[in-house]
Amino acid sequence: MFGIRFEAQPETILSDALKDCQTAMKTLEERTGPGSEFLGWLDLPSSMKEDGLAASVADAMKGLDDVIVIGIGGSYLGFRSVLAALENPFRSTKPRIHFAGHHLSSGYMKQLLDYLENRSFGIIVISKSGTTTEPAVAFRFLFDRLHRQYGAEGVKKRVVVITDEKKGTLRRLADDLQLQSGVVPDDVGGRYSVFSAVGLVPLAVAGVDVKALLGGAEQAMLHVREKYNEATNPALAYAAYRNSCYRSGKKIELFASYRPELQYVAEWWKQLFGESEGKENKGIYPASVQLTTDLHSMGQWIQEGERTIFETVIDVENDASLKMLKAESDGDGLNYLAGRELNEINRIALRATMEAHRSGGVPVAEFLVPELNAHHIGALLYTFEYACGISAYALGVNPFDQPGVEAYKKNMFRMLGKPGA
Ligand code: PA5
Repeated sequence: MFGIRFEAQPETILSDALKDCQTAMKTLEERTGPGSEFLGWLDLPSSMKEDGLAASVADAMKGLDDVIVIGIGGSYLGFRSVLAALENPFRSTKPRIHFAGHHLSSGYMKQLLDYLENRSFGIIVISKSGTTTEPAVAFRFLFDRLHRQYGAEGVKKRVVVITDEKKGTLRRLADDLQLQSGVVPDDVGGRYSVFSAVGLVPLAVAGVDVKALLGGAEQAMLHVREKYNEATNPALAYAAYRNSCYRSGKKIELFASYRPELQYVAEWWKQLFGESEGKENKGIYPASVQLTTDLHSMGQWIQEGERTIFETVIDVENDASLKMLKAESDGDGLNYLAGRELNEINRIALRATMEAHRSGGVPVAEFLVPELNAHHIGALLYTFEYACGISAYALGVNPFDQPGVEAYKKNMFRMLGKPGA
């Protein structure tokens, strides 16, 4: 069942923006817009169903103590967001998952290497280009450790490379050393790659039900790609809502969730929209808050700061059943809540906050998600990807390139003395 719904105050959706989004959706479907050579992600939920790599890597790695997943940007956030949304952070699983290559901190790398001393571990290294500095640096350290521990034959069983099918340093290395490998399709960019081997392989190793994830994404795909009506298509309605807000001077979008499990979905969403839309001096700035936590830090700004923001709330309908206790002496004054579900209290906080923010001049819309499981997370992420394609085309930019990320690299390579830089 495709359960994702989107609700906005009708007056926040401008008819011009909606019309532009309907045209943008047509451009996306007819593959006539800029960057259309990168539309492979549109069909991934169905095309990846038969791919057996994730299951076979999960099987091969199940006896290890630890698996280090190396990657950055789109080669990192999709996996991390789904895992964080679904895992129980208090349960220790085997293999334990760790991240590397998403920054250049030496303290972190040193601690990770110290921790791995004499442990049985494996590596999944993910980089579409195969040349990104941060994951390449991490891989050099971790591969060296693994090689010294297990030798040339041992690493073959413990390293999986996910990269371009033919080109790049990582592909050459994987072929030369006969390492297991998966492919990032040519026509899928990093931030749209969660339903390819980039997300599915590490998720299967971490024990996530990737079939259910793909099933949810596929249902969203079948739903949102057909309907040009904002009342029935949450991706189209969301794209129209955010473009309307932008056109009326609201330049910052706050992704607000009331479930800590969604912290990395927010990070993934920020990358998706930020890298897709922030170009040619245009684009909504995507920001996020964790609520109710941040009501005690950013709440003041949201309620009364500069009126340039709009908010998109993720309301997850179901959560674990936990009833508030009744205390003998009502010392803390909470007995008025006794017997009520904690999730109901959380969702009343959400409603109360939406009302307060609206009355403070912040347009607020919401996504309704039935519960946090692999199926619905798959559906939600696909809905966002599709909305992002529409929204960026309506804004007039290419959603699938990222020319701006080269600027820091050029400077860094020059300062580091990279040959040819
Ligand atoms: O979305 C993108 O294309 C980027 O964020 C990339 O995923 C990121 O720069 C990492 O690139 P690569 O996978 O080539 O190492």
